[in-house]
Amino acid sequence: MRTEDLQIYRCPITLNKLRIKNEKIVNNRIKSGILVSDKGIHFEIEEFIPDFTWPKELANIDQTTRESYEKLALEYEKYADIPFQTFNQSNQAVREKIIVKLNLKENFQVLEIGGGDGRGAEYILKYIQSGKLYFQELSKSFLKQAIKRLNKFGDRVEFSIANASYLSFPDNYFDAAHHFGGISTFAEKERCLKELCRVVKPGGKIVIGDEGIGPWLKETQMAKIMINSNPLIGVDVPLSSLPVEARDVNVEWIMQGAYYIIDFVVGEGEPTANYHIKIPSERGGTHWSRYYGNLEGVSDEIKKIAKTAQKKAGMSMHDWLEQAIINEANKAK
Ligand SMILES: C[S@@+](CC[C@H](N)C(=O)[O-])C[C@H]1O[C@@H](n2cnc3c(N)ncnc32)[C@H](O)[C@@H]1O
Repeated sequence: MRTEDLQIYRCPITLNKLRIKNEKIVNNRIKSGILVSDKGIHFEIEEFIPDFTWPKELANIDQTTRESYEKLALEYEKYADIPFQTFNQSNQAVREKIIVKLNLKENFQVLEIGGGDGRGAEYILKYIQSGKLYFQELSKSFLKQAIKRLNKFGDRVEFSIANASYLSFPDNYFDAAHHFGGISTFAEKERCLKELCRVVKPGGKIVIGDEGIGPWLKETQMAKIMINSNPLIGVDVPLSSLPVEARDVNVEWIMQGAYYIIDFVVGEGEPTANYHIKIPSERGGTHWSRYYGNLEGVSDEIKKIAKTAQKKAGMSMHDWLEQAIINEANKAK
């Protein structure tokens, strides 16, 4: 961790700045030490890598995932290409196709979570020659592999250990964020996606992908065979886990429909619409008055009387009702 990153990293719970204690600095990098949050929570730095894991005791599924990836790290090379071979796709072409969706520019600050052994990060780094990639991973052993692989990019990559559902960055820090291949098993998917929206600037892109067969293919022979080998292929695409800030959402199924890519632009808060346009129908009113304008319900009999009178008056129901209320209110003055 570079000393200047002390200004950037945040406590993943309070989101406030961290202070360092017992630090050992080598060439402007913090080799070891303890990052302390305003709540007194400690995050250790070992061999230049801060560990922001939160909660300290991970949810069961995250803990199991971490343990299985810890065991897999040295053997991953044997398995990494199997999905691409299975669906007769080139790993390189698929990665390119995904990364293009991030709309990267040379000077971008980019976050990759659950980055594994860094094989996807190489594609990001090609685009951000003067920018920086913050690379996070849950498994220390995988992170070590990534450090080896990405060593050639020097200071352009900053590594940390973290649970992707609790990010150690300030709001609106990144220009884009990416994840591929693990989100199906994240214990707190919704939280993770919300966190990504928090740390990416409005207008920035988020691109995520994973196993998740197209719903129209679920009963095919391919689905049955592939789900038998890898149950994650049967997992539903997490569209309902997207946060309200997601705008211009696209889903593309790749690898013969067995994997999906979701890309979207980060917006501010939930979307709004023009609720106040006048609707020129018999019912009349606006979207807003229709939803919020109810005073008290009326009986079926009175409704019929109102409808007949409204038609006779040649007004929309909304205008007739408002006129009737104004008339009666004026009389009562
Ligand atoms: C199948 S690998 C994909 C790695 C890489 N993104 C790629 O495209 O090659 C899934 C990765 O997600 C990581 N992971 C799983 N759960 C995570 C979590 N809660 N937070 C961060 N990373 C996680 C795993 O440790 C693993 O390295």
